[in-house]
Amino acid sequence: MARVACEKGKCGRTVDPATVLRIGLRLLHTAAAVVWLGGGVYYVLALRPLRSQGVDAAPAVIAAAQRRFARWASASTLLLLATGVPLMFDRLADGRGTATYVLLLALKVGAAVAAFWLAWPLARRRTNRFGDARPWLIVALGSLAYLLGVVLATLYPVLQR
Ligand code: HEM
Repeated sequence: MARVACEKGKCGRTVDPATVLRIGLRLLHTAAAVVWLGGGVYYVLALRPLRSQGVDAAPAVIAAAQRRFARWASASTLLLLATGVPLMFDRLADGRGTATYVLLLALKVGAAVAAFWLAWPLARRRTNRFGDARPWLIVALGSLAYLLGVVLATLYPVLQR
């Protein structure tokens, strides 16, 4: 809990280590979300359309770009999970989450896990159920997880009052 310390008539807030840890987790989570979703949006809006525009080098360029981005995609997926899970337990553990908060959180985690599953290279090789719509579906689910994350982060300080 933040403590107000007063000295010579001036008051300042000191922040305990748990709060610093929470802020660190949220910053890492958001940075990973930007890399993960940014790569997906760039792929569907800029890279992928090159194929249908008759650019000869497109397949080779797209494949090379995808190979280069793969390690960033894997690292950001791991970081989203490694920061999202503790954030989730932290929120649920204090018992102040309303039913709406818990419902939105469940929807967010469901959308994120579905997006990870569809983007997972092994799943892509095993089934092509969604065909050309798959990249769009991944970005739509990831965007839903992102927007719900922002809504949840906005709701939480209200719950803390
Ligand atoms: C595509 C994947 C994901 C994206 C794009 C995403 C994005 C975000 C964003 C933008 C925030 C708001 C951060 C802030 O303003 O502080 C957030 C918060 C959060 N995310 Fe994620 N996230 C993803 C996956 C996950 C996963 C897999 C989990 C849990 C297993 C998770 C759990 C959380 C929690 C608990 C919060 C905090 C909500 C709060 O402050 O009350 N996220 N997420």
